[in-house]
Amino acid sequence: MKNVVLVGYMGCGKTTVAKILAERLKIKRVDLDHLIENHSGLSVEKLFLDRGELFFRKLEHQLFLEQLVNSEPVVLSTGGGTPCYYDHHLLLQSDKVVSIYLKASLDTLVDRLKLGKKKRPLIACKTDEELKEFIAKHLFERNYYYNQASFVVEIDNKSLGEIVAEISYLLA
Ligand code: S3P
Repeated sequence: MKNVVLVGYMGCGKTTVAKILAERLKIKRVDLDHLIENHSGLSVEKLFLDRGELFFRKLEHQLFLEQLVNSEPVVLSTGGGTPCYYDHHLLLQSDKVVSIYLKASLDTLVDRLKLGKKKRPLIACKTDEELKEFIAKHLFERNYYYNQASFVVEIDNKSLGEIVAEISYLLA
């Protein structure tokens, strides 16, 4: 069994999908943001604010690599930026990994992130008007990295159950 790595933009549901998928596959789940928070003793918001994004990215890099060389396979939910730094996109198809891009439309992401932006330092200060333009540009830049995943699963208008069933089918 390989590590199942979920990637995608903020708000696409990586953490929630990982929970259900890990239960279904009966393997451990690891959330990279939680790993970073446990390791540093600071929340992601605090890390960005107090130590800066570069510090966060270095820690993210270190813990992502450590997790992938761990012998026990896991379902790993990454942060929205994880595949976009340090050549991480090249690891999405490595021997020990099967990766899934949870692809959401711009409108879905904007709707979800309007509600969930406070805890996300990259968008916390954006007005609702600024948010759509920011996400559109950011998603355009990041799509290249997300698309290096082994599989793309579109999540718009699908229930959690449907998304997990689709991923399980791809992994079978
Ligand atoms: C980030 C996404 C966040 C978190 C950090 C940076 C990004 O994770 O890692 O705020 O660069 O897109 P989620 O995708 O779980 O919100």
